[in-house]
Parts: sequence; structure tokens; C-alpha cells
Amino acid sequence: MAFDVRRVRAAYPALADGYAYVDGAAGTQVPAAVIDAIRGAYEGGLGNAGGAFPASAHADAITAGCREAVADLVGGDPAGVVLGPNMTTLTYRIAAAVSATWRADDEVIVSRLDHDANVRPWVQAAGRAGAIVRWAEVDPATGDLPAEQYSELIGDRTRLVAVTAASNAIGTRPDIPAITAMARDAGALSYVDGVHATPHGPVDVSALGADFYVTSAYKWSGPHVGALIADPALLGSLRPDKLVPSPDTVPERFELGTPPFADLAGVTAAVEHLAGLDDAAAGSRRERVLASMAAAEAHEQRLFATLLGSLDAMRHVTTYGKAAARTATAYFNVAGHTPRQVAEHLATRKINVWNGHNYAWELTGALGIRESGSAVRAGLVHYNDESDVTRLLEAVAELG
Ligand SMILES: Cc1ncc(COP(=O)(O)O)c(C=O)c1O
Repeated sequence: MAFDVRRVRAAYPALADGYAYVDGAAGTQVPAAVIDAIRGAYEGGLGNAGGAFPASAHADAITAGCREAVADLVGGDPAGVVLGPNMTTLTYRIAAAVSATWRADDEVIVSRLDHDANVRPWVQAAGRAGAIVRWAEVDPATGDLPAEQYSELIGDRTRLVAVTAASNAIGTRPDIPAITAMARDAGALSYVDGVHATPHGPVDVSALGADFYVTSAYKWSGPHVGALIADPALLGSLRPDKLVPSPDTVPERFELGTPPFADLAGVTAAVEHLAGLDDAAAGSRRERVLASMAAAEAHEQRLFATLLGSLDAMRHVTTYGKAAARTATAYFNVAGHTPRQVAEHLATRKINVWNGHNYAWELTGALGIRESGSAVRAGLVHYNDESDVTRLLEAVAELG
């Protein structure tokens, strides 16, 4: 493993501005290779899809290349990669298609750990079908989402289990293989939100057992594009609303309108970039992705141990979440200051953090902090370094 954070940082033009970018959980910066790929796509001449001339073939090749890249990132089948504007839009689309066969008294399970984008689309779809919503609860003391509760929640009437692979607020990584196995045994589908998990380590959708896995490239150094990964046969069994003349093939059936071709080229470049995070990674792109993401995770976790340990040691700081398995995402409050005030103070020290519920609506409600502005989130990604952590800790210490 050879992770050189200085080399990694040099790839990102935006990081030269002197700010500590600790807001990666809300969206990462992009490397020059991604910007170049987007520019190159336009410079190379782009037509709409399916035409008889080279600029159209260029667009088709970009789309096909993007599906392959996303499949390499998460271990899926390119023929099962649906591209769309973002995770939220894709989830509403799939929820509408999947719930078309739900009946009154069918059941859907959501969790209080999840970002609202993997809660509300299912709750609203259930409401339309007359189906029952059952909730998996978070242990407020630890921030864990105990997998055991799913054996009680899942039953004969369960049609779908929606659960996150990692909390975007407190980083908790639930035991997804255990949860999806219980869903599968009961004949239910699983819909796994991988938006926060994907940037923080190797992903294998088969090992997760996820029927649907969804991710957003802007969280992993790419442009604002979302992707859903599923077995093409499962996608083929669904009939989403679509225009009559648009392709009825899978995965195109789920893609509405004209895609942002140049951005799709940027997504592929982002995956190439991730595959090269570990200097020593070798082999196929999938193999290099796995090695590089493991190296990135080790780097993030090393920094996170310092960040969390030091925040926990500050008497004026309260941190949330103690899950054993979690991403490098700290969520905390500072006594005597609102989360917004803390973020504003950090901004004066050129440190970017997010404040608020971060759409972890149910979780912040369960933690009892939503009404008071929730908390401050400092999330590390592969391009953060020791100085980002040191500066953040010094600036928080100033508020004590
Ligand atoms: C865990 C998680 N799920 C879903 C979303 C929504 O993603 P998108 O912005 O692609 O709709 C986010 C965005 O922050 C997220 O962090």
C-alpha cells in the first residue's frame, strides 16, 4: 500500500486556495483529470445519443464508458447501471416503479439512521399503496443500527427494506450483509443507500447483498451525477413511467431525457482517479479501485482517530455516535455556540464544515438535537491531511 496524500492533494486544483475542505460529506472537490475530461468531451464534439455521425457515437461511447466505470467502482454489472441526476431523483423513480405492485397491508422497512432521500420516497410510495411503514431504530447512545431488530421487523408481508450503508451524519456503517440476507430470505427487496459509504472504502454490491445500490459521483471526486446499480434482470422486471419513443431497453428504460454526456465523461475520469490513489495498485481497474479505496480508508481512519479522540477530550465538545464500524465523519456540538456559529467561526479560520441536520432528519430527531440546529459535521475524505485536522482542532479549541 502506498498512499501519498501530498501527491493526491496536488491533483485537486481547488485545494490550493488555503482552505481546509472538511465538508467532503456534502460534496468533494474534483481533480484536474475530471475537469479535463469534461472539457475534452465538449472539445471532441458531442451529438445526441444514437445518431449516424461520429459526434453522436462519441456521446454513446461516453455513456457506455461511464456505466463500465461505475460498475468497476462498486463491483456491479455495467448493464445494470442506471445514470441519473442524483440519488434522490433515482430513488423517487425506483420507488414509483417498485411500489406499483404494492397492496394494502404490504410492508416496507425504513430506518431512522438514513438520509431522508432513502426514507421519504418509500414512506410516500407506501402511503399511496396503503402499505405499512415499519421503522428500524437507532440506539441513541451508540449511534448503531442494530441488525438484530430486522428479524422482528421483516415478515411475510415485507416488500422492501431501505437502509443506508453509512450514515452521512455520524458515519455508522450498519451490518448490511446481515440485513439484506434477512430481506432476501423473506422474499423482500433491499435498497441500499451507498451515497455516503462509497467514497470511504472498497464497495462490493454482491457482498453487500444489495438488490439496489445507489451512489452519487459528486461525493467521490466526480461531477453531479447519480448512479443506481442493480441486476439487469431485476431492472427488466420493472415498468417505470417513460416516454413512448424513448428506449425500452435496460438500463435506458429508467433514464429520462438527454443525459449530461460531458459530465458522464467526468464520472469515468473520477473512477480512474480513485483507482490511482494507491501508487502501488496494479491489475484491472476494478482491482486498482479495491486496493486504492482500501488505502484511502486506512489514511482517513488514521486521521479520524486523532480528530475524534481530540474532540472527545475537549470538555466543551459533545460528539455523536460511537459505532465500532463508521466512516471518518465527526458530528459534534460546542457548548455555548450554535452549530451555525461554530461553522461561521471555522470559516473565519478558512475551514469548511457543514452545520445542521444534513437531511439526516429522523436521526437528528431521535438524537433530540434537530430543533436546536442539530450539530456540526466534519467529514474527512482521502485528500484531507494532518494539517486539516490540526487546524480544525485548534479552531474548535478556541471556542472553549
Ligand atoms: C447518505 C446520503 N444519501 C442520499 C443523499 C442524497 O444524494 P443526492 O444529493 O445525490 O440526491 C445524500 C446527500 O448528501 C447522502 O449523504
